[in-house]
Amino acid sequence: MSGMGNMRPAVRSKAEKEASLRAGKKEEVVIKVRDLVNGFSGKIIHDHLDLDVRRGEVLGVVGGSGTGKSVLLRSIVGLNRPLEGSIKVFGQETVGMAPEEMRGLQLHWGVLFQEGALFSSMTVAQNIQVPMRRWTHMSQHLMDELAAMKLSLVGLPEDTARKYPSELSGGMKKRAGLARALSLDPELLFLDEPTAGLDPISAAQFDQLVRDLQKSLGLTVFLVTHDIDTLRAATDRIAVLVRKKITVGTIKELLRDNDPWIHEYFSGPRGHAALGDM
Ligand SMILES: Nc1ncnc2c1ncn2[C@@H]1O[C@H](COP(=O)(O)OP(=O)(O)OP(=O)(O)O)[C@@H](O)[C@H]1O
Ligand SMILES: [Mg+2]
Repeated sequence: MSGMGNMRPAVRSKAEKEASLRAGKKEEVVIKVRDLVNGFSGKIIHDHLDLDVRRGEVLGVVGGSGTGKSVLLRSIVGLNRPLEGSIKVFGQETVGMAPEEMRGLQLHWGVLFQEGALFSSMTVAQNIQVPMRRWTHMSQHLMDELAAMKLSLVGLPEDTARKYPSELSGGMKKRAGLARALSLDPELLFLDEPTAGLDPISAAQFDQLVRDLQKSLGLTVFLVTHDIDTLRAATDRIAVLVRKKITVGTIKELLRDNDPWIHEYFSGPRGHAALGDM
């Protein structure tokens, strides 16, 4: 019988998939990346990179421009097919996953992309309702109520619903994008440079909002940023992309790291200004 233990049915039933997803969601590690290799035109970006994202944490992801933070995010959400490696989300292997099975997982996360533009021809409410329209069969009335709830969740006034993106400030656009990412009540939120281009006060308010949402909604957040203030204010641990791999730690741990880039980033003048004597 021992050989039989390794035999797996080629096709899993819907019930089996759902049961396995439920079990995976209870795991402490919600994203498990192993031996990830990414590269374009022969240039390696990630070289056997490993990363764990724990349930309920805000993980800050930093690294120099072009080191592959966005590619890492896109690999995890299935928009970039890695050359090698394994990525498990809620215990499900997503590398090579069939598109219909991927869609089942996509319902459980929300993404605010770096270039995360709202659709300019749609009102804010219509933007927030895009995922609802795509994935659910709710009445317009219900979707309007939900859009209003999401706006209040991200601290935007009620009348923002009827506005077009061109009528919003940069900070309001980021919040509206966040409301759209929260459209389907995700458990996992991916944010790529959400405070880039904001003034320091708006950025600090956005950081606080991410923290509040994480706490009140029990979210796990994958937060790509270069903003050291955001790292201090809004994250539990930090993943640094350096030399094509990830080093994870708290700010205190990273301050002791000997890697030149990490040292310069956290202990250089900018780091000191932001972190004080931590
Ligand atoms: N689809 C693609 N095709 C070819 N090259 C790509 C593709 N996507 C990303 N790259 C390259 O991969 C590298 C990493 O890009 P990525 O956007 O992940 O960097 P990043 O760390 O997010 O940078 P930034 O901080 O500037 O946003 C860059 O050299 C980029 O040009
Ligand atoms: Mg990027």
